[in-house]
Amino acid sequence: MPKIAVYPGSFDPLTFGHLDIVARAARLFEELHILVVHNPKKAPRFTSEERIELIKGSLAEAGRYGTPMPSASHSKIVIATLEQGLLVDYCRKVGAQALVKGVRSNADLEYELPMARVNRDLAGVETILIPADPAQGFVSSSLVKQVADLGGSVEKYVPANIVKALAASAADRK
Ligand code: PNS
Repeated sequence: MPKIAVYPGSFDPLTFGHLDIVARAARLFEELHILVVHNPKKAPRFTSEERIELIKGSLAEAGRYGTPMPSASHSKIVIATLEQGLLVDYCRKVGAQALVKGVRSNADLEYELPMARVNRDLAGVETILIPADPAQGFVSSSLVKQVADLGGSVEKYVPANIVKALAASAADRK
């Protein structure tokens, strides 16, 4: 049975912190699904389709940022979206045994633990928490959007295709 994991999140947009977790998780599992989840508590900047395209573009360029992805023969990366329904239902559908989450801080841990317990309770799906690389430990999608909107440089935090998309969305909002 292949070891399949799902890495869910808003990815609005993907950051270098997310990319690091993707690369590390892809080494642990034979198949990794990056799942763009609609979070009803958040008004997204980018549509799910746009986020998927941004993730695809970033993965294609990942080597440039010193984030080598495992070779395609060892690990398969799938990018998908969940617009409604439970995360564990998606896991069941694709045969995933685990969820992957990146943890930057105690606050992240407090946010993740109840969800991890509920997901295990609902469907026996385990959550693997991966400590964020300290270099990325303070980067968040919301801060990156705020910096970009206010005219700051976000090259250190997100891949080049996302820098461009953020600049375009900041211009649109003016
Ligand atoms: O990047 P985010 O916004 O912090 O990700 C939150 C996410 C998508 C992981 C969370 O909202 C989620 O798990 N949504 C799926 C809905 C679900 O299954 N909920 C019940 C169990 S927690």
